Amino acid sequence: MPSPDRRDTWNAQTYDRFDDARSRPFQDLLARVRSVAPAQVIDLGCGTGSGLADMARRWPAAQLVGVDASADMLAAAETELGPLAEVTLVRADAQTWAPETAADLVVSNALLQWIPDHAQLLTRMASWLAPDGWLAIQVPGNFEAPSHQLLRELADSPQWTDRLGGVLRGANSVFDAAGYFRILTDAGLTVDAWETTYLHVLTGPDPVLRWTSGTALRPVLAALDDDAAQEFSGQYAASLGTAYPADDAGEVLFPFRRVFAVARREERL
Ligand SMILES: C[S@@+](CC[C@H](N)C(=O)[O-])C[C@H]1O[C@@H](n2cnc3c(N)ncnc32)[C@H](O)[C@@H]1O
Repeated sequence: MPSPDRRDTWNAQTYDRFDDARSRPFQDLLARVRSVAPAQVIDLGCGTGSGLADMARRWPAAQLVGVDASADMLAAAETELGPLAEVTLVRADAQTWAPETAADLVVSNALLQWIPDHAQLLTRMASWLAPDGWLAIQVPGNFEAPSHQLLRELADSPQWTDRLGGVLRGANSVFDAAGYFRILTDAGLTVDAWETTYLHVLTGPDPVLRWTSGTALRPVLAALDDDAAQEFSGQYAASLGTAYPADDAGEVLFPFRRVFAVARREERL
């Protein structure tokens, strides 16, 4: 269902289509957070709330705050988290929001790639931590992958460039693991940063198009009317079909690089 707010282009249903594959990086991220009983936990860009639900299960005594700019995603989060009284959901822009109290854990999964110059935001997030507090972030690192290169090439082609110039993020939207290591070390934290390439096995018609419809393709779809969006999607699907062919079993292999950092404000005696 399209969102009533034209600026709110996130759609919970489309995003959650690949829920299982999308939730694994968050679980791998959280596995490296060794906080025993965080009292105050923030999830910046909490989306549909699956991460908040995971954290509420792991730390039942924690007070959790989920922040997101999208009314559609927050409505889905409210449904997912309904009975959990210890979760507060806030609609706000991550670039300007700040917590009222120090946090024992700040998590941000798949948000920062949407925020230009997010080194500054990361430094601010580090400043929210209580002594011994933890910060955990994950971003997709696939901007050089065919899925994204083909999208940018098509948007920059003569047919589309007038309408789509500047709507897509470039390959420099995220840092590599060393980049996040430096930013968070400079912010006074002890950092563990790494990268992983997941091999997603997708099936069904146009599976890579269906994946990117929930994320990378959103800004394009939001900038076009329905007919143009359909035409663009058809052209994009054709090039994706060549770049990501199905095998004899009908499976499409979709490698997906992701970058992680888990950091801690170590208490100095
Ligand atoms: C890819 S989703 C990730 C959601 C969730 N963290 C997860 O792992 O499933 C990105 C989320 O960031 C939110 N978002 C994007 N820009 C934002 C901003 N400037 N401030 C707050 N939230 C933002 C979107 O509304 C969306 O819910």
